Amino acid sequence: MHIKIAYYSGSGNTQYVSILLRRFLSKGHKVSMFYIKKGKVMDDDFDALVLGMPVYAYRPPQTVVDFLKGLSGNGRSVFIFITKGLISGDAGRIAALILKERGFKVKGANDILMADSLFVLLAKKGSLLHKIMLFPNRGIEKKVENLAEHIQRSLIEEDEYIPRKKIYVPFTSLIATMFWKKEKIWQTEFFADERCDLCGACVGLCPTHNINIKNGRVLWGNDCDFCMRCLHRCPKQAIQIGKYTLKSPRYKGPIN
Ligand SMILES: Cc1cc2nc3c(=O)[nH]c(=O)nc-3n(C[C@H](O)[C@H](O)[C@H](O)COP(=O)(O)O)c2cc1C
Ligand code: SF4
Ligand code: SF4
Repeated sequence: MHIKIAYYSGSGNTQYVSILLRRFLSKGHKVSMFYIKKGKVMDDDFDALVLGMPVYAYRPPQTVVDFLKGLSGNGRSVFIFITKGLISGDAGRIAALILKERGFKVKGANDILMADSLFVLLAKKGSLLHKIMLFPNRGIEKKVENLAEHIQRSLIEEDEYIPRKKIYVPFTSLIATMFWKKEKIWQTEFFADERCDLCGACVGLCPTHNINIKNGRVLWGNDCDFCMRCLHRCPKQAIQIGKYTLKSPRYKGPIN
């Protein structure tokens, strides 16, 4: 079977899992990868799809939602995995319903608990809190191996699966609405500090093409998933959100 792993990743957790997953699944299948970015089109050459994404404020990232709406399943199987810092809300259900609508057979979904790419910014680099924040990544290889087995079992099953609506969702929806309001404000506070050497890496890293360099300055637009990829992956650690991140550690997934 030719399995395509289509994934989206901010700091690097989902990217890490996807690459490892490829290694495990390649033992019995042909596996290809696709990194989801705004406007990027995936070829249709696969027998089954694995969708990997993080959860942001209990929902799939907007870029993933837009990507899924452009796919055609033609009866092929799909498995969804979500990397999360704590709880995934209805992210899996939302993605599953779109995929079903697009003609896929949703065969399974699974969450993987990992370091939280947002909350890690609350710690000071090297502090005890920082170490605690990284703790969920322990044993990640084994978790991905189990995920690979789960995917292989599910893809050949007849039954379809749509994650149930979680009972806590009205509560998390309320928090999410408040969060995205705040996020609109935080978005305007992105800047590159004096360590920036205008290398341009952030421009290419951004999955929504939201960063430009003009007149010797790095500029952020309004189309941001708040994925933190630019902030965590700037080679000079020069990207800040106001004063909030001046002392925060940067995080690129389990292999930092
Ligand atoms: C803006 C933002 C919102 C987040 N919201 C949630 C959330 O609602 N629930 C959760 O469990 N984790 C949340 N997280 C943590 C990420 O889902 C988690 O760390 C994920 O593994 C990050 O994967 P990535 O590095 O591939 O983007 C959030 C992270 C960010 C940056
Ligand atoms: S990646 Fe960092 S150093 Fe490079 S241009 Fe962007 S902000 Fe500046
Ligand atoms: S601007 Fe930064 S945080 Fe926003 S989508 Fe682009 S990489 Fe992610």
